[in-house]
Amino acid sequence: MTHLHFVNSHNGQLMIGNFTASELANRFGTPLYVMDEKYIRNQTRMFKASFIHPTLLSEVIYASKAFLTIAMCKLIQEEGLSLDVVSGGELYTAYCAKFDMNRVYFHGNNKSEEELRMAIVYGVSTIVLDNESELELLLPLLTSAQKVLLRVNPGIEAHTHEYIATTKNDSKFGLSTADPATLALIERLIREPLIDFLGLHAHIGSQIFESESFFKEAKTLLNYISEHKLVVRELNLGGGFGVAYTRKDQPLSLPEFLRSLLEHISQTLSSLGLSPMKIMIEPGRSIVANSGTTLYTIGSTKTTINQKNYVFVDGSMADHIRTVLYGAQYTALLANRMSDVCDTQYTVTGKACESGDIIIKETYLPPCTKGDILAVFSTGAYHYTMSSNYNRLPRPAVIFVNDDQVRVVVKRETYQDLIRNDIGA
Ligand SMILES: Cc1ncc(COP(=O)(O)O)c(C=O)c1O
Repeated sequence: MTHLHFVNSHNGQLMIGNFTASELANRFGTPLYVMDEKYIRNQTRMFKASFIHPTLLSEVIYASKAFLTIAMCKLIQEEGLSLDVVSGGELYTAYCAKFDMNRVYFHGNNKSEEELRMAIVYGVSTIVLDNESELELLLPLLTSAQKVLLRVNPGIEAHTHEYIATTKNDSKFGLSTADPATLALIERLIREPLIDFLGLHAHIGSQIFESESFFKEAKTLLNYISEHKLVVRELNLGGGFGVAYTRKDQPLSLPEFLRSLLEHISQTLSSLGLSPMKIMIEPGRSIVANSGTTLYTIGSTKTTINQKNYVFVDGSMADHIRTVLYGAQYTALLANRMSDVCDTQYTVTGKACESGDIIIKETYLPPCTKGDILAVFSTGAYHYTMSSNYNRLPRPAVIFVNDDQVRVVVKRETYQDLIRNDIGA
């Protein structure tokens, strides 16, 4: 069994909603991304209910890079959250899902002219500018006032992986608050007639477990606003709230943390003599990661001359890139034998032609046999959205389970899909 609170089993079978995982694997095939829709809805409701304050306006914006499909856009709209997109593709998905564009925030460090044009035509609420050259690109496209936030780096060091830490002074994202040129750009934004400058945005990194990092982020930004007497109506603190992948991860208790963050901001505003402003956050991972389970069918196993045990699954780094990308760690169990003792050490790997094709570097499982169903937990965020067709492996289907309801939200790719853009077939 497992310590992960969102994992349930019954009679030795992993349960997702009211289904056994084995039944889902049988019916929809593997590899399979299974998302627990009820879990996602509960998370969105918890964020909405907790990120409120008697004297501050607040907004929860879902960071769609974590997981985005038409069905997900519809869910987010139904639950009343806003949406953060970072590319023309994410924006187009929101548009096709008929997502309310008044609730869309357009991010990205290198938006193209075409993407900016698209954002204006679709009428996105706010463009989050990343640097001055983006402003130069945007200005000639505007015919009426455009709401804008500026992404800045408050220089907070959060304890997370280098590739997902985003606020160091030399980060590719945003502009450092330590750089006088940032202030000059803000002053310019305030002066530009077609720019409706709302305020600042920052995102200090992902998979963060210390509340202190977020308090420091808010305080640093409010001090900056106060010190430079900036008229700011909105402050967006980004996402980054950590989740449990393994026993070692100790996430924040979000309901208490979110309330205390707003209270901290309210007190800081008063102590600095600043007027109230709208405070936004952009959770991605913390809304969807723990809702997702990847199901694989076990094929071969092997033991090397050095007694290293491998178990090979029918997926790969193409549907599970975070282990090789960040050294991310996961928990896995045999979905069809949840009560069996996990006494054999394995490296779980897939079928891609790369030694780095590791799904879990070291885990304990019952002795595995061909046909067992391996469940890898917490794969709802940055899995489907980071998947590829490496080795021409078709991408898995995505299904939503809600108690006794199940629906396919993304079809499994076929070999035909793989060559759809190839010329000369
Ligand atoms: C600007 C911005 N906002 C929000 C997020 C979401 O972060 P997380 O999924 O860790 O909550 C990211 C992630 O990289 C981001 O870059």
